[in-house]
Amino acid sequence: PEALSGRFRGSFAYKTIKDRLPKILTKAVDTIYRQRTVLATKHGECGLDDFKLTVGRLSKLRYELQTNKPMYKLTDKHADVELWNQYYDKEKERNGMDPCWFTNAWLYVECFMYRSIKETLALSMFLKDFDPFEEQKRSAFMSSQTPIVTLANHLLHIVSSNEHRDADLLEKDFRHMVELSLWGNKNDLSISGGSENYQKADPLEQLDELQPYILVDQINDMWRHLKSCANRKCGRCRIDIILDNAGFELFGDLCFAEFLLRMGLASEVHLHAKAMPWFVSDTTSQDFWWTLEMLQASNNGELSRLGTRWHQHIKDETFFLKQDDFWTLPHNYAELRAMAPQLYQDLSASDLVVFKGDLNYRKLTGDLQWPHTTPFVDALQGFLPAPLCVLRTLKADLVVGLQEGQDKQAEEKASDWMVSGNFAVVQFYVDRAW
Ligand code: F6P
Ligand code: MG
Repeated sequence: PEALSGRFRGSFAYKTIKDRLPKILTKAVDTIYRQRTVLATKHGECGLDDFKLTVGRLSKLRYELQTNKPMYKLTDKHADVELWNQYYDKEKERNGMDPCWFTNAWLYVECFMYRSIKETLALSMFLKDFDPFEEQKRSAFMSSQTPIVTLANHLLHIVSSNEHRDADLLEKDFRHMVELSLWGNKNDLSISGGSENYQKADPLEQLDELQPYILVDQINDMWRHLKSCANRKCGRCRIDIILDNAGFELFGDLCFAEFLLRMGLASEVHLHAKAMPWFVSDTTSQDFWWTLEMLQASNNGELSRLGTRWHQHIKDETFFLKQDDFWTLPHNYAELRAMAPQLYQDLSASDLVVFKGDLNYRKLTGDLQWPHTTPFVDALQGFLPAPLCVLRTLKADLVVGLQEGQDKQAEEKASDWMVSGNFAVVQFYVDRAW
């Protein structure tokens, strides 16, 4: 199938490039604007010049994007520059012209926008490590305190009461923890075009109501797989989570990880963060550490204990925090083995790789216009480093693994079912040979 692209007018890709990305860029420029006085005070004339240059470059980027100008080759010193530029050349060769914002694959151009913001900052003198989305991420986390406490109390309740419970109840708790982590993915700041979006509803109370919106639910298969791994390996199982958004979603993912550890379903959890500010709210290492520190310093005893506990998990190597440039490249995951062999090898040691969110889904399936009934494994195009699953709310016009007619039914419920974040899938695959 063809790639999703802004050249299909009326598609969500088109709308994203036309409206959402410029809005995100404007918001980033506004944030940098607020650094003006800081830079002027700290670095005088030099600081002001640097500020003007940076804002000017970002405004130019926005203009070029909106007017479908050609993209360009990167020139900063980051290790991934070569790979981006090779990608550019390949696209140019394939299409016989320089890649442009609306005409090329949506996945590529959207990733390039974030990489280009990073380059602009990298080329500045005083804003090299500035995260233009940090303010938004932090404010969303702070605004979600009530649901975060609810979730922490729920976790405490199930881990302290589960020890002597039967397997059926444990399975039910597992399902709830997966669903909590899944619906956390509604809260990304990219779908809202950088506008406020944080968890408002009680995360537990909403679970029953949201159940019918899970179009593919393979939580039982995940459960059976983890149980059999834990039995076979006496609980010495490794889980990987390819993280998505910071804030409430990250907190839910960490609670899920904690649940797996405490219930003997995993002995170590590898958390994969982004190496640069990405799709507004994606978790960078900096966001991860900030979140743990906020939790530890919280007035709420339970949050504070979790913060301390998760710091300790890192120290005693129960949690591993990892980052790799591959996660911020435009390539789909079928290319991971060739592009990042070490990362592939590392993931192959996992007993379950959990991919969080919409962008991971797009990269797992190559962001192609698959018929909706395409089997999930076919859309993976051979990418199977280990048993894997994806917990994703739908925010792009792409979905696979549906039953015949399921898309029509969803459409009847809501015409924007593919892009609103209100529908979800939990898809799992394990190779029989595994
Ligand atoms: O803006 C494009 C997009 O990929 C959307 O499809 C989605 O809303 C967002 O970015 C990222 O979503 P997530 O945080 O779930 O990966
Ligand atoms: Mg995200």
